[in-house]
Amino acid sequence: MRIGIIGPGALGCLFAAKLYLSVNEQDEILLIDHKTERAAELNSQGILYESGTETTRCPISVSNSPESLGHLDTLLFCVKSYDLKKSLHFAAPLFAPTTLILFLQNGIGHLKYGEQKLLPAVPAFAACSEGATYLAPGHIRHAGKGHTTLGFLSPGNKAGSKQLEQLATTMQNAGIDTSISNDIRTQLWAKLFVNAGINGLTAVYNRSNGQLLTSCAARSRIKSLVREAEKVAKGLGITIEKDPVAATLKVCKQTARNISSMLQDIRRLRPTEIDAINGEVSRLGREIGITTPLNDELIAQVKKIEKRYLSSQTEANENQE
Ligand code: PAF
Repeated sequence: MRIGIIGPGALGCLFAAKLYLSVNEQDEILLIDHKTERAAELNSQGILYESGTETTRCPISVSNSPESLGHLDTLLFCVKSYDLKKSLHFAAPLFAPTTLILFLQNGIGHLKYGEQKLLPAVPAFAACSEGATYLAPGHIRHAGKGHTTLGFLSPGNKAGSKQLEQLATTMQNAGIDTSISNDIRTQLWAKLFVNAGINGLTAVYNRSNGQLLTSCAARSRIKSLVREAEKVAKGLGITIEKDPVAATLKVCKQTARNISSMLQDIRRLRPTEIDAINGEVSRLGREIGITTPLNDELIAQVKKIEKRYLSSQTEANENQE
């Protein structure tokens, strides 16, 4: 199997390293980066993968020219939700009717790629809770072991299903705990509840996941944010398997020392995924006439923080030109 991983961020490097270290000689793992200089640098330095007290250098091929790679069986899109459209366009030369595309974004803004026939490929989705911390370009730490659930939004054809099973087995063999669900939408909403309750608040309060639990105000906001999201999900007829509030508080405890992906984005002065997470709760709520004032308030707070550094970056870029 030839697997391409698009995006050398924390999750992309984690998957690339774990797959690289476990696949057979006849399989190939490639990392694909749209940035020419960074791709060249990562290609020569390799990916540094930290797990526990060990650091392993993985000499993975990193390319920035999809058109030169030939046929890849599977593509893992490990880019941020706001970069997805651009990345799909960049990787388009790799699409074929049998290419399995796995989306690993947070939130649910990307589900349209499975609901409508927007891509000449086979779209599948992953709800992934692996914890990965970005330390430097191509240098990541496996911060917490999680689980990855894979599935199609609508039943895949025989060949697509077989390919997804093969991918799940390859991931499992690489130590990425993986299963297949025939109701991935439910799993993606379950993850959305957790992210809607935790990520934005960690950004606003500048706290680790566990530190949120030590403040009564933050704890009560987690509960209210998740209850609002749950109301929207029920209004849309989404199946809810476990109590979303209890599940969110549990994840907060289990990942107590984690710096959430959104707080990592804020600290690196990058855009956040607030639109794909709480933004989608609010947007879908509006569509079906359910108000989401607490999610709206959080979105405004995160956007205010983002605006402070994003607008100064734009100014700096303009001054350089
Ligand atoms: O986005 C994240 O950081 C993670 O999904 C989670 C579960 C909040 C843990 O940090």
